[in-house]
Amino acid sequence: MDFTVSIDGTDQSAPANGGDTVLDALLAANVGFSYSCQAGNCGTCKCELVSGEIFEMEYSEHALLPQERERGVVLACRSQVWSDVVVRRLQAEEFIVHPSRVLRCRVAALDWLTHDIVGLRLEIELGGPYSFSAGQYARIELAGAPDARDYSMANCPNEPLLEFHVRVLPEGQISRRVAALKIGDAVRVSGPLGTSYLRAMHPGPLLAIAGGSGLAPIRAIVESALECGVLHDMHVYFGARAARDVYGQQWFENWRSRGVQVHVVLSEKATGETPFRSGWVSDAVAEDFSDLSGFKVYLAGPPPMVDAAIAVLRARGVHPRDTHADSFYPARATAPMRSPRQASRL
Ligand code: FES
Repeated sequence: MDFTVSIDGTDQSAPANGGDTVLDALLAANVGFSYSCQAGNCGTCKCELVSGEIFEMEYSEHALLPQERERGVVLACRSQVWSDVVVRRLQAEEFIVHPSRVLRCRVAALDWLTHDIVGLRLEIELGGPYSFSAGQYARIELAGAPDARDYSMANCPNEPLLEFHVRVLPEGQISRRVAALKIGDAVRVSGPLGTSYLRAMHPGPLLAIAGGSGLAPIRAIVESALECGVLHDMHVYFGARAARDVYGQQWFENWRSRGVQVHVVLSEKATGETPFRSGWVSDAVAEDFSDLSGFKVYLAGPPPMVDAAIAVLRARGVHPRDTHADSFYPARATAPMRSPRQASRL
């Protein structure tokens, strides 16, 4: 036998010849693994490729969604082994797929949250019910606008109005149209999208890091975690440029009263007295924690902030599978199919 197939987090492994599928190797060694069709049609054998090189044979598009593949999920029955390979069994909550909906909505409220971030609240008129997991995003289209844009839901899944936080840029074709919406205007919303959603079953502490309007999905995650009775240590870091960019203080006070540690960190040096910390939000996390192993971490914000924070998380021992940060990456688009394939993680 040329290679070994191992299951992450267990002592289970199986020998494999080059070209054997992951599933065949495991079953031949009497390693229990869920499967059904063995032909790439049902999706029962989904697992995560942790390391190693595989060749993916053809499978039905219904068995594995592009966004799952993008996250490193593969079909064991369609994955030929071409090196030592480590796979991980999926946990039920790693695998939530809500039905995709196209909603016709009306503007119910529009409020400025800071000098350049507007809070848009929408009432669903047609196309519901809309189910999603806290932290996911949706695609928003406005009548007459040239493009759609993706924004994260800031509301909890059980709240009746959909809420989005939109940073209005001087040259922003879509964001300026959002800011000019009137109560009752029509907005089309499709989704949900994204895999950076709350894993409420995680047994360890929770760390959430937001920058600017990235507070939207983090608000949904923290509120939902509190609602679900997640009582572990929870820590929220919100990075903003200056005091005028800080919003959500009413949420922060509420979270603090429920035991959540909340830190607001300003990247610009304040001129006078300020209740906020200063510096980069990722540096504040690095200062406060020498070891983050076992934490589940959610990040949302501009890519430089997310990248700097991920470097800190890696140095502090956060496992890549416990890092969830896809909301603000430009690479939201589906990755092209490619084989052979190597595990790649955040
Ligand atoms: Fe059905 Fe693999 S067992 S897709």
